[in-house]
Amino acid sequence: MTDDEFFRLAVRASEKSYSPYSKFRVGAVLLTTDGQIFTGCNIENSSYSMTICAERTAIFKAVSSGFTDFKAIAIAGSTSDDFSVPCVPCGACLQVMAEFCDDDFMIVLSDGVHRLKDFLPSRFKKS
Ligand code: THU
Repeated sequence: MTDDEFFRLAVRASEKSYSPYSKFRVGAVLLTTDGQIFTGCNIENSSYSMTICAERTAIFKAVSSGFTDFKAIAIAGSTSDDFSVPCVPCGACLQVMAEFCDDDFMIVLSDGVHRLKDFLPSRFKKS
């Protein structure tokens, strides 16, 4: 699968987004090291802080299915059909990625491939 095909899967996952409040549809596709794929979308709530991001939906689906080794995630977000502006993961999602992934975990956005360390150069760790 090319990076572009991977990104297009995230766009397709955004079709499941439940986002009546922000109208910002986000899709994420998580690839495990053994080739499994988990999709996620953002799921909003009228009690706004209960909202969950697409990335965490995908990661929690994977972890709750017994997978904790991840290679890459693709993320697409938009209020329209134009997904060309990169949807950089929020701080909460980066911290959840950091729980399971090393610095070189790949984050595929509309503008290409990034690494977890690009967005989260250092991480919280309980000593
Ligand atoms: N959102 C995500 O799904 N992922 C992010 O990394 C940032 C934001 C969602 C949450 C909310 O439903 C909408 O985008 C607007 O913030």
